[in-house]
Amino acid sequence: MNPALQNPELQKKVDNLLARMSLDQKIGQMTQAERMTCTPEQLKQYHLGSILSGGGSTPGENRPADWVDMNDAYWAASLEEDADHLAIPLIYGVDAIHGNNNVLGATVFPHNIGLGATNDPDLLNSIAQVTAREILATGVEWTFAPTLAVARDNHWGRVYESYSEDPEIVRSYAGKFVEGLQADLGDDSVVACVKHWVGDGGTNNGIDQGETTLSLNELERTHMSPYYPALEAGVLTVMVSFNSWNGDKCHGHQALVTDVLKGQLKFDGFVVSDWDGIDYLAEDYYQAVALGVNSGIDMFMVPENWQTFIQHLRKHVELGTVPLSRIDDAVRRILLVKHACGLFDKPRPSQRKWSNHASFGSDEHRAVAREAVQKSLVLLKNDGNLLPLQRKSRILVAGKNADNRGHQCGGFTVAWQGTDGNEFIEGGTSLWEGIQSLSPTAVLSEDGSVAEASPENFDCAIVVIGERPYAEGMGDIRMNNDVIVEAGSQIKGSMKVLEPYGHTLELAELHPEDLATIQRITEQGIPCVVVLISGRTLLINKELEQSTAFVAAWLPGSEGQGVADVLFGDANFQGKLAFSWPKKARPPINRGDKDYDPLFPYGYGLTCQRT
Ligand code: GLC
Repeated sequence: MNPALQNPELQKKVDNLLARMSLDQKIGQMTQAERMTCTPEQLKQYHLGSILSGGGSTPGENRPADWVDMNDAYWAASLEEDADHLAIPLIYGVDAIHGNNNVLGATVFPHNIGLGATNDPDLLNSIAQVTAREILATGVEWTFAPTLAVARDNHWGRVYESYSEDPEIVRSYAGKFVEGLQADLGDDSVVACVKHWVGDGGTNNGIDQGETTLSLNELERTHMSPYYPALEAGVLTVMVSFNSWNGDKCHGHQALVTDVLKGQLKFDGFVVSDWDGIDYLAEDYYQAVALGVNSGIDMFMVPENWQTFIQHLRKHVELGTVPLSRIDDAVRRILLVKHACGLFDKPRPSQRKWSNHASFGSDEHRAVAREAVQKSLVLLKNDGNLLPLQRKSRILVAGKNADNRGHQCGGFTVAWQGTDGNEFIEGGTSLWEGIQSLSPTAVLSEDGSVAEASPENFDCAIVVIGERPYAEGMGDIRMNNDVIVEAGSQIKGSMKVLEPYGHTLELAELHPEDLATIQRITEQGIPCVVVLISGRTLLINKELEQSTAFVAAWLPGSEGQGVADVLFGDANFQGKLAFSWPKKARPPINRGDKDYDPLFPYGYGLTCQRT
């Protein structure tokens, strides 16, 4: 039970307000629309409780001021009380999952897979505090973070949103991150949302939104236990998973949502659905609405068809197929959270402490991200102690990810699927820019031909390789759709299947350009430091063999300088693998498995002998 929500005074205020609300106003509070489908006038007309920005859905020039102006308009509309509308402030939600990553000029932190390698819970708390300020700078009050997925199969397109394959690290971060975001629920706080309840990381074959087949005992031990410290820390919202558990979709799962989360675990904030998450509960959307509401979900992320949702839910309440008591429970929870985080007492967004604050994207904030990058790097190989490099060495820099801030940030950055090139990531440094600042004589091989690679001119090369950005199912590694049918075969209901990123984890097949670049350099007798930018562990045997030193840099975010700092010894390597590094694609390999035989084990990471 969350003391902030159990406050008797608050409960009384909420009960009084609830007693004044019409059915339309109650159903409106349970409805969350996307900003592109709902004007401030419509928000008032339908009494909506929340608006969200989907990944990449940004107002105006996508500067903090544009966000604040947008939120001012929604806020004013929500508080315009008249005969038909009660003044209840909306809550605006975004996916600020590695900084306020949607907004131009934001500090973009390493994605969770890299943060897992730091094994530094206090750093996570600092990251959350900075992230909260950069969210508040845009007039937004709610982030759909942290993700508490325990990713068990690296074929999954969302591995990088997971801190680790093992619940131990995730548990150690969950409470710290929530505390960093929510703090004292005052002016420096935003509402956190732990997700996705429950078992998203256990999806069979790493198929996004698929089937998680586990005993209750295993589901609890691996996938539920990371939520406990977050609940302890007073997290105010929980998002439901698209996945099914043993064939039953979480969005319709009364046992998991109501009996376990709200009952046994005494969660008293509110539960929000995922994006159209109830659509897949039944062919008939009308039925799906009742299944979702009766499972215990309180707020519905219905980005486009929110008016249909409202109509259907009203009908269900009139017919009694959704009891009014369920509506009242949902609205009570929503109102309690809005009161507890001070929404009813705040001024409009543009009048708040952090709105349009100069600290947005500041050097001070970026220094926290740079430290996180330094601590996230895992050194897998360092023959002849090639690393750390000398600044005065003659260094050739190559590889498609060497000078690409978009690629180093990965998905959920400015756009849902991320960006390419440097233009959309303002204020940060690519790895190349970081290297150049420490070793001004370094040369960038622009076109990847590395024609200039000759041992007369260069002592060594830094080759930055790996993946392009992706998000969710578009990051899956899947053969083709029949795998989906097989994996999804026991799912009751349907599922959304997106075009996958590729069909193999073998990097040399997935991105042959990388090995080709490395080989063209090593054939000249020039030793290579290979830096892998990736959202997951990949099969890297061939690239590893060709390299003299090999660094896993994950998705470091905007501060590529942090990578250069460690390559040149200004900071030592300290990162340890939070994911086992596999020798082969299947079966997936995780800490504690029988016959555990990784290429590099969970917890592995070299340091440099001299710094
Ligand atoms: C997405 C994701 C979820 C995100 C939501 C809003 O589908 O599953 O993590 O918070 O939609 O963008």
